[in-house]
Amino acid sequence: MQEQLVAKINDQLNKELYSGYIYLGMAACFEEGGLPGFAHWMKCQASEEQEHAMKFFEYLVQRGERVKLTAIEEPRFEYDSALDAFEAGLEHEKYVTGLIDDLYEMALEADDHAAAIFLQWFVTEQVEEEESFTKMRDDLLRLGDCEKGLYMLDRAAAARE
Ligand code: FEO
Repeated sequence: MQEQLVAKINDQLNKELYSGYIYLGMAACFEEGGLPGFAHWMKCQASEEQEHAMKFFEYLVQRGERVKLTAIEEPRFEYDSALDAFEAGLEHEKYVTGLIDDLYEMALEADDHAAAIFLQWFVTEQVEEEESFTKMRDDLLRLGDCEKGLYMLDRAAAARE
């Protein structure tokens, strides 16, 4: 594989782990704030990010390339409200979408069709990632200051699998 593309995939592996770290930070914040349903939702999200990271890990191995693990940045773990956390999560997912799009472009430019096909899964996944954060953000916006509504939504978030 093209060296630059391998380096960028290794970077993305790091970013996926970092994403998981961000969501674990949010989970810790929700636990502290007495919102166990949102904490559960964020733990599920963190597990998904770990799975994303492993997809990149396994792909590099499959292509006979070296996996390079680098330090994971410390995440933010203080949020003013549930809305603040989900808004930050949505912004982060948009950032990740941009990274995946760049990676996909790079694979096309390198004429690495196999890598481009592999990356298509992530292009589609990012649509879902943004959608799930947008949905929660919009529900929270609708609730406003309604404590009862927040409790109900926290309960609903606990059902995430
Ligand atoms: Fe791995 Fe949330 O994108």
